[in-house]
Amino acid sequence: SYEPTPDDKFSFGLWTVGWQGRDPFGEATRPALDPVESVNRLADLGAWGVTFHDDDLIPFGSSATEREGHIKRFREALDATGITVPMVTTNLFTHPVFKDGAFTANDRDVRRYALRKTLRNIDLAAELGAETFVAWGGREGAESGGAKDVRAALDRFKEGFDLLADYVVEQGYDLRFALEPKPNEPRGDILLPTVGHALAFIERLERPELFGVNPEVGHEQMAGLNFPHGIAQALWAGKLFHIDLNGQNGIKYDQDLRFGAGDLRSAFWLVDLLETAGYQGPRHFDFKPPRTEDFDGVWASAAGCMRNYLILRERAATFRADPAVQEALRAARLDQLATPTLEPGETAATLLADRSAFEEFDVDAAAARGMAFEALDQLAMDHLLGVR
Ligand code: GCO
Ligand code: MN
Ligand code: MN
Ligand code: MN
Repeated sequence: SYEPTPDDKFSFGLWTVGWQGRDPFGEATRPALDPVESVNRLADLGAWGVTFHDDDLIPFGSSATEREGHIKRFREALDATGITVPMVTTNLFTHPVFKDGAFTANDRDVRRYALRKTLRNIDLAAELGAETFVAWGGREGAESGGAKDVRAALDRFKEGFDLLADYVVEQGYDLRFALEPKPNEPRGDILLPTVGHALAFIERLERPELFGVNPEVGHEQMAGLNFPHGIAQALWAGKLFHIDLNGQNGIKYDQDLRFGAGDLRSAFWLVDLLETAGYQGPRHFDFKPPRTEDFDGVWASAAGCMRNYLILRERAATFRADPAVQEALRAARLDQLATPTLEPGETAATLLADRSAFEEFDVDAAAARGMAFEALDQLAMDHLLGVR
């Protein structure tokens, strides 16, 4: 059975099921969804967590009393359902004040306001027990070359994140940051466009240990990149703090399809990677139920995200357990790749002294060896398609 349980750690953003279907060409096709209703429905479907932007829960411009009221009834729904809040994020992109960005806006007063909005939301995240604070710089970018001094903007980005990290440490919060890359949309070009850019940026921060990444399936694919490869590098760097799962059909606008829709083969390898690598974090869905759907379609879409993950988890496990696959992996020499290239303690001098590595190496024989990758990939295809 592919019934999700809280142990699967499936979480959803309030803005996902709550998306009203507004796009650049059309009005909303669905009414607003009460966050309490979302919590209840997601709990019924077997989800474990909900996440939100400040403005998803507390409409922008709410008074302090209104704010408390929204938080109180949300907390009551969490307590009643056992749903957790593993991650919180800040909306620094919807209000027109953020039209040129937030932490990297050219206007200094906008940057100071953005930091204040974020600090307030960090307090709320800590209060609700979140472990991860996501930062997606949707409006940090430009449409034209002269509009943004990218090196100065990166200085301001670093300044902002260094301040937030100091604050979290001073307050004693158990909270880490996850930067979410995206190449474009809504800006023509967004800063920190890919996982690789974000990983390099993190190493320039004053407290890099508090920062990781929150890669989203579709965002890397919008840049034509291999998502599982990006995730593997983030895992290798110890930086996969969170993940946004959804579906995407190649290089085009951000589709945010339900997980498994779009590039199914990539989804298979992604689940295989997360499960074999022992990733312990949330399986967070950041998708948008298409605007063609009514609420029945919204909940079917949310259930489909979890169902597809569970099916792929099972398919990946049968792939790994199949003796024919293990044989095919050996034929493809994956075991050799796992073996260090040098002997223990070996140096350039001993390598230079090893005649078998060069003078006596049969280059033509090595070049003639097939890699046996096609047979291996067909086995994966058979498992993915459920015929093995
Ligand atoms: C997108 C982004 C957003 C962010 C979210 C968190 O699809 O453009 O993924 O959905 O994840 O806003 O800040
Ligand atoms: Mn997206
Ligand atoms: Mn996302
Ligand atoms: Mn999204």
